[in-house]
Amino acid sequence: MATSQKFGGNWTEEKLNIFTSYLDAYLIALQNQQFKKIYIDAFAGTGEIETSDGGQYLVGSAKRALASDKKFDHYYFIEANSQKAGELQNMINSEFPQMRRIVTIFCGDANDKLAEIISSVDWRYNRGLLFLDPYATQVNWTTLENVAQTKSIDVWYLFPFSALERMLPKNGKYEKWEDCIDRLLGDRGWREEFYKKDPQMTLFDLLADESGQKNGERMVKNANPDHIKAYIISRLETIFPCVSKHARIFRNSRNSPMFLFCFAISNENPKAQGLALRMADHILKNK
Ligand SMILES: C[S@@+](CC[C@H](N)C(=O)[O-])C[C@H]1O[C@@H](n2cnc3c(N)ncnc32)[C@H](O)[C@@H]1O
Repeated sequence: MATSQKFGGNWTEEKLNIFTSYLDAYLIALQNQQFKKIYIDAFAGTGEIETSDGGQYLVGSAKRALASDKKFDHYYFIEANSQKAGELQNMINSEFPQMRRIVTIFCGDANDKLAEIISSVDWRYNRGLLFLDPYATQVNWTTLENVAQTKSIDVWYLFPFSALERMLPKNGKYEKWEDCIDRLLGDRGWREEFYKKDPQMTLFDLLADESGQKNGERMVKNANPDHIKAYIISRLETIFPCVSKHARIFRNSRNSPMFLFCFAISNENPKAQGLALRMADHILKNK
């Protein structure tokens, strides 16, 4: 086998099943519409996955999208790793040769290439399905804003929940992560949302010069996973007109949250929103 991509566990398959169920439903729902349909896989990989915790081989998102019964009019794949991008191209050449003319592979950063793709498409006549499946904190908030502004793209975003939690220490010493969290969440409000003044603070603490102190007050974390999940959804709701409340938390074998699988719709048409949300929520509740 070529360069194997090792990541995820059972939830990797769960994630791909949720996503491809939506993809199939999306293509059926739009089959009689005059819009052109565009697929964008911004963290595409090679089309093959070997999970790290079981030696299990899975078909990845790129291959699943290309293999669906109904087709998109164009497929864009973005992959930062040039070797993986080459393997993806080889897989398409050998397994989907008839689709080569409707596939474009970009090798580079998802934020940059997605901006290029978005600005090259006339979104009045196109509808898009976007999969954001990063390993960690690669997706900039400004990219999500750009996606929302198309008013034509539905997005599934694997939000890096555990990476965010790791950057939010209990003792409030988050200074070195501030820029990364601001870039991820697009706002400074998380400081007040996830931290409160330490009620246990003593006179002795006040005299100590700790970097976890803000204006002479020590801050402690005040956020559990449900709170963080609700905040992430509320942030998405500031830029997308419709966001599923049923985002799925994927947990590792120790039951710690790893990722939050979110769904957001940029279309402003209430009928289109209703249909897309019904499909996504049905899948999120039942898969
Ligand atoms: C979780 S894997 C995606 C797996 C893929 N969706 C699948 O189902 O097979 C993340 C992929 O993103 C690539 N990657 C990492 N950083 C990236 C970036 N900034 N832009 C684009 N791709 C990136 C990695 O090389 C890796 O192949």
